[in-house]
Amino acid sequence: MLPIARRTTIRAFTPIKSRVVNSQPRRCFSIVPRVRFEEADHHRELFQVPESVKKGAHIKSLDEYKKMWRESIDHPDQFWSREAKNVTWMKPFTKVSGGSFQEGKVTWFEDGELNVSVNCLDRHMEKNPDSIAIIWEGDDPSQVERITYKKAYEETCRLANVLKSLGVKKGDSVCLYMPNCPHAAYAMLACARIGAIHSFVFAGFSSESLADRANDSSAKIIITADEYIRGGKSILLRTIVDQALPNTPTVEKVLVLNRTASGKAATDKGGKHLDLESEMKKQKPECPPERMKSEDPLFYLYTSGSTGKPKGTPPSSIYNAHPPGLVHTSAGYLLYAGLSHKYVFDYHPGDVYACVADVGWITGHSYIVYGPLFNGATTFMFEGLPTMPNAGRYWDMVQRHGITQFYTAPTALRSLMKFGDDPVKGHDRSSLRVLGTVGEPINPETWRWYVSYVRKGDVCRYHQIVGEGQCSIVDTYWQTETGGHLLTPLPGATPQKAGSATLPFFGVNPQVVQSDGKVLEENRVEGMLVVSQSWPGIARTIYNNQSRYEETYLKPFPGKYFTGDGVYRDEEGYYWITGRVDDVINVSGHRIGTAEIESALGSHEAVAESACVGIPHEIKGSAIFAYVILKNTHASSAKDIVKELKAQVRKNIGPFAVPEVIVVTPGLPKTRSGKIMRRLLRKIAAGESTSQQLGDISTLAEPEIVQQLVDKKQNRA
Ligand code: PRX
Repeated sequence: MLPIARRTTIRAFTPIKSRVVNSQPRRCFSIVPRVRFEEADHHRELFQVPESVKKGAHIKSLDEYKKMWRESIDHPDQFWSREAKNVTWMKPFTKVSGGSFQEGKVTWFEDGELNVSVNCLDRHMEKNPDSIAIIWEGDDPSQVERITYKKAYEETCRLANVLKSLGVKKGDSVCLYMPNCPHAAYAMLACARIGAIHSFVFAGFSSESLADRANDSSAKIIITADEYIRGGKSILLRTIVDQALPNTPTVEKVLVLNRTASGKAATDKGGKHLDLESEMKKQKPECPPERMKSEDPLFYLYTSGSTGKPKGTPPSSIYNAHPPGLVHTSAGYLLYAGLSHKYVFDYHPGDVYACVADVGWITGHSYIVYGPLFNGATTFMFEGLPTMPNAGRYWDMVQRHGITQFYTAPTALRSLMKFGDDPVKGHDRSSLRVLGTVGEPINPETWRWYVSYVRKGDVCRYHQIVGEGQCSIVDTYWQTETGGHLLTPLPGATPQKAGSATLPFFGVNPQVVQSDGKVLEENRVEGMLVVSQSWPGIARTIYNNQSRYEETYLKPFPGKYFTGDGVYRDEEGYYWITGRVDDVINVSGHRIGTAEIESALGSHEAVAESACVGIPHEIKGSAIFAYVILKNTHASSAKDIVKELKAQVRKNIGPFAVPEVIVVTPGLPKTRSGKIMRRLLRKIAAGESTSQQLGDISTLAEPEIVQQLVDKKQNRA
């Protein structure tokens, strides 16, 4: 047995003061360690690449990778102009990169012109019209569709013509609120074809969140489905859209895909609805592509962000709980998604590549739709749940479709591990070559269960199930903002460590910095993760809010992109993400800002104040723990109020943001200047409540509140 991994660091992140550096106001951050990052055995154990994976891989050795990476950093224009030859340009670019993080603006291939949908469809359709672009599997395993490039092209063109017929023009915003289905991909590509900008709202968001996002980008059209099915449960999307419509004045029409046509969601609100498929049938299956500049926006995508609020900022300023709408542009994003898809999943023609994420998040955008289709791949899209109809669903799909790369989230794997090995072993997984994870750190036990390596000349000691030691694992670390992978192994080249995202992708120059901005050059260092130069996939701005973009990402460490994550670099230069260092909680790979949850709780009439923190959770990675102070006037019992508050968060944000625990408290631990000490709240929530664990509380305005919170927590337990 391996020694149990020691807990790694999760750090609290506190803006402490403003000062002026290079004449720009900037914030400093203090890192308050909870547990020091201690190296355990798994941090040193290196697993070699399986020979079977290495044999046919694009990049077969660490030296080869390092040479390419070095070129991408030292001569980025040379590297990226070579890679950009894989893009079909309408007008070739003459300038590769421009601008800088220091200036707050970067550009890639600025004077080039292209159309993203041509790159994802036309050029493959012309060469191989009958090759499969999308395999879709519904919640019910017997519902499978195999869509050729020709069909995907024609459906996309028809949908593009529908949008045009409704008056959508280049630069207009179209809101997509759709499940995982081929029409979601057609809708994205149809927008790209006519130069409209899609803004996808994940189908788990509530009507209020949908309205908020549709309004932020002044969407003209919403494309949705009547309903979709997950784990046998129906989610009535059109009904949610109808609830949002009275509050979305810019929306002129709603196009509804009859995904199930059960009639459950049918209501009409003011004649805004059109049946998507009947409208498509009326249109021609071709549509001339719009010429787009490389830096024209391709999509907006909202994510939970740090409010980035410097101390003393007035509440009415740009810094609020509103999620930032990241703007991704055309050429750089597409090339980065395509190149990372090819190398990180070691994609080859003939592979059946599967990413089981949701198409409405960045993982779905980059690695279900744009990356794979740029490469002419067959991309698999899944509507359902990993445990339905049973815990062998993933591996059953692998067997039935001959899946070669499988990309999922650690949370899903942890939920499957509970069912033991039999549901896996009952299926043939021999087609698999690469297993990927994304969205949150993967713990070493899960990593080993997922894949593991056979070590050369050694008997593999580890419990290895899914990949039977014949697969490479790619633990990919990245963000909505980064467009594609930042840190990741390459399957044929990078020896692995269980739980490390290993080394940077091409064009990414990561640095570990201290809170005062000092760059830590050596290995075995811990700090915050920044990237020192731009790469083509990075989001260019926040929609309508460049100042928030600069304040959140570029000003904390001037001249660098700040990820908001803590990191440890070990003695071999491998990176280990230690978790968010700001006010963002990652629940089952869903990123949620504490400010958003607190704002939802505060919208309940009984709530005077609240504070949320993340606590470790066996399956979800982290869960939300909320402390709530009630107004004196409220009448409900404590039990009722907790129920009401959970319902409030569900209504304002969506089910995935509902706190695991809500504790009603008479007060919160605040400093004399009124700042909540979240460090204490985290400790109390995690059950670390001895005076030694809590540390110095003498600076609190009312230190006695700490004991009251500890008692409350213990009474709950
Ligand atoms: O904290 C990191 C975590 O997820 C955050 C990004 O979330 P989002 O923008 O929703 O994108 C998720 C899918 C790319 C990061 O700041 N994260 C993502 N991948 C990993 C990770 N943490 C550790 N290891 C990862 N592989």
